[in-house]
Amino acid sequence: MPLDIIIGAQWGDEGKGRITDLLAAQADIVARYSGGDNAGHTVTVAGEIFKLHLIPSGIIHEGVTCLIGNGVVVNPAVLLKEIDALTARGVDVTPSRLKLSRNAHLITPAHIALDAASEQARGKAAIGTTKRGIGPAYTDKTARVGLRAGLLADEAYLIEALRTHIQAKNELLTRIYGVEPVAETAVITQYIEYARRLSPYLVDSSVFLDNALRNGRTILAEGAQGTFLDLDHGTYPFVTSSNPIAGGALTGLGIGPKHVRHVIGVTKAFTSRVGSGPFPTELEGEPALRLRGTGANPWDEYGTTTGRPRRVGWLDLVMLQHAIRVNGLTELVLTKLDILSGLSEIPVCTAYEYKGQQLKHYPSDLRILADCQPVYTVLPGWQEEITQAREWADLPENARQYILFVAKTAEIPVTMASVGPGRQQIVTLSPAITRH
Ligand code: GDP
Ligand code: IMO
Ligand code: MG
Repeated sequence: MPLDIIIGAQWGDEGKGRITDLLAAQADIVARYSGGDNAGHTVTVAGEIFKLHLIPSGIIHEGVTCLIGNGVVVNPAVLLKEIDALTARGVDVTPSRLKLSRNAHLITPAHIALDAASEQARGKAAIGTTKRGIGPAYTDKTARVGLRAGLLADEAYLIEALRTHIQAKNELLTRIYGVEPVAETAVITQYIEYARRLSPYLVDSSVFLDNALRNGRTILAEGAQGTFLDLDHGTYPFVTSSNPIAGGALTGLGIGPKHVRHVIGVTKAFTSRVGSGPFPTELEGEPALRLRGTGANPWDEYGTTTGRPRRVGWLDLVMLQHAIRVNGLTELVLTKLDILSGLSEIPVCTAYEYKGQQLKHYPSDLRILADCQPVYTVLPGWQEEITQAREWADLPENARQYILFVAKTAEIPVTMASVGPGRQQIVTLSPAITRH
């Protein structure tokens, strides 16, 4: 009967997909509640790599049903491509296993064109979006002119809604941005085809989940993006256009808070960010390359969705405290601990200094944040490779001390440390180890 929520505690790409896949073994339903195909979640099983953008990371477990919730914005072309790619790899992605909320919103080529045009118009102030049409689709949702997935079940209604939508967006594209309009007839033809294929997946997702909870099923909500990309609680305006935090899981799925059991924050053992915006512990040059990798390994820090090199820096516990608070985290999972092997020292940011004062809380004013200097506690590193570690005792003493330092400073249990992308590469910690 419970709902567990997995969220990203940083700027996305923390390894949510990898942890969702792991925890999905004990879940009946895995549900995405926010974002769209701006997300790129990597799951590695027996050396096989799956990159998921819209389909929940529970899909690799045969017994798990997956749901794309009402809070998600869905590009039907991407969803169908993903369904086809998984099917070709032998994964069952039929409507018995995958459900799409009627109240999820659709992304169209007009949204994508507007995303590109508005980024272009921003010039140096560009957000560095994934250009997947996410912002414009959520803008339409809040402006109450969005296209809901339920339209896919009614061809005449869909055609009419698309026509109105494209005509309005083409006005914007041509008159405001001075760019090419999208081709109305071609888009309508495409969407009729998408509708034929996707309408069997549609459900009333809140009712579907409520029935599951009443029947004693366990639901795992898979967050996309991360706390600092949250529209309300992130580094606004350098954020996405939805609420990736735990609260977003409730509105994005249509479930009340009484069902929530665990709220699991996934954080890298360091920090990464794609796109523009502040990043207090960011590193440049050689030290950055050391954390980012050259791109030779699949887990190196290059975007799953866009291929852009990710910005990287040290772990920031001021950020983590903010994530713990706004999400109501019950525990933390630390990923990519293996990447820190071989460093002689590992700085961790424990406070910000601003105009001679130490700040206790992550400032929401970006002008203040820009003037904050990270205050570091430097921890001793470890030289051993840890990718084979499976138990607490397998970890070098300094790796254990690193985990304990995070748990103690953040005052939250760390329940798992990931030491590689593979499903088995996890050290599960008994609560007694890191409880404070
Ligand atoms: P998500 O968006 O939060 O699901 O994360 P991404 O999949 O975009 O990025 C995380 C990357 O790190 C992926 O390539 C994962 O396979 C990889 N990964 C996850 N956990 C670990 C880990 O503990 N160690 C290593 N080396 N790679 C990991
Ligand atoms: P996952 O789920 C990392 C970032 C973009 C940009 C900002 C706004 O894989 O962790 P958008 O296209 O959403 O309007 O872009 O948000 N962004 C992500 N960064 N991981 C993600 O998802 C992201 N989704 C969006 O890079 O800075
Ligand atoms: Mg990602």
